Amino acid sequence: MGITLNKDYLKGYVSDADIKALAPAVLKAHRDLHQKTGAGNDFLGWVNLPSQVPDALITEFSVLAKEVQANSDAIISIGIGGSYLGIRSTLEFLGGQPCMPVYYAGHNMSAVDMDRVVKLIEQKNVTVVVISKSGTTTEPALAFRIVEAAMRHKYSGEELKKRIICVTDASKGALRKIVIKEGYRSYNIPDDVGGRFSVLTPVGLVPLALAGVDIKAFVDGFRAGEKKYAVEDLSKNICYQYAAIRNVLYAKGKTIEMMASFYSNVQYLAEWWKQLYGESEGKQGKGIFPASTILSTDLHSMGQLMQDGMRNIFETFIMIERLDVSVIVPNQPEDTDKFNCVAGKDLDWVNKQAYKATADAHYEGGVPNLCFTLDKADAFHIGLLYYFFEKGVGISGYILGVNPFDQPGVEAYKTKMFALLGKK
Ligand code: PA5
Repeated sequence: MGITLNKDYLKGYVSDADIKALAPAVLKAHRDLHQKTGAGNDFLGWVNLPSQVPDALITEFSVLAKEVQANSDAIISIGIGGSYLGIRSTLEFLGGQPCMPVYYAGHNMSAVDMDRVVKLIEQKNVTVVVISKSGTTTEPALAFRIVEAAMRHKYSGEELKKRIICVTDASKGALRKIVIKEGYRSYNIPDDVGGRFSVLTPVGLVPLALAGVDIKAFVDGFRAGEKKYAVEDLSKNICYQYAAIRNVLYAKGKTIEMMASFYSNVQYLAEWWKQLYGESEGKQGKGIFPASTILSTDLHSMGQLMQDGMRNIFETFIMIERLDVSVIVPNQPEDTDKFNCVAGKDLDWVNKQAYKATADAHYEGGVPNLCFTLDKADAFHIGLLYYFFEKGVGISGYILGVNPFDQPGVEAYKTKMFALLGKK
């Protein structure tokens, strides 16, 4: 059980001495996170959150889930950024919908997408979970206006109230005001946990529980991460090694980190990771650009650039050791396509050979790469991996010399958009 790191394809790019040279900076970052002495220290609630999530909360959400699953055909989850990506990433990683279909709204302003959601409300019994920490974000606010109107058209009184669940700040923001006025059920997002670090709060736990995810195993994954990745000694902590490695590579001109996986269920995990790393480190003219590919699909589109383009990229592979399925390649008597060489083999074995070949070829082409292998694609491992990357970006951002817990840059477009909309 767990995550392993393969560093073989860093040879010649990142030496043991390079990593050791960063040990003092890593130790300082570790202490700044744990003693809350660094920049952004009012947003460090996530560091020890796993061990603080009460088992009673897991039980409460599981009871809520049973009620909702009994009266609804689908969930509509409204939110954007940190109030969206962790939910979608988890559900996709676990192979779609464990129990209830989840539809998303408020993660864009596409009228086409919204029209589908409104039609869904007309046709099915739904429960809506609207998530916004600030309670003032444009996309989920507009989506909730539209969804709430459609819900009112179909339901009323207590029936309406029990079908709308709000996850927001305990006291601030427009969504909290709506909760107080309408009497909707609500759950609080802790003040000291920023959006992109919030998947372990009710932001993630409520919709994931409703969808049928084993949230106990999910929380246990986080708890295991909290213990495992708190070890100060860099040589024993792969999370801190990851933070050090990416800073060494960045200093050597590798300004793009490509998260690559041979498993399509990792696609939204990569989206979640891109927000976490991009929003945490991309500031003051600094920061690695996080990008992603799904392979072998994208080897047929991005493969040329990866092998042979500008050499400013390193790759971080995410592999899965054991799958729940087995698909055997059949023998074909004529062997027309000359693939009887893999007849009788599991397709996943072939996929893993494709990984080995790609890691080797890209390395030879000037793309250093590292690989994290998860034992299984289950709720425990995604929880563990989330904590791994959260801790990793805290350490990495401090090494880089930025505050990883703010996002002043995302306000600029909003100011201009509000001016265009005439919003006061
Ligand atoms: O990480 C962040 O802070 C952002 O991505 C937010 O999660 C996103 O903007 C949504 O904000 P809110 O939950 O306040 O609606």
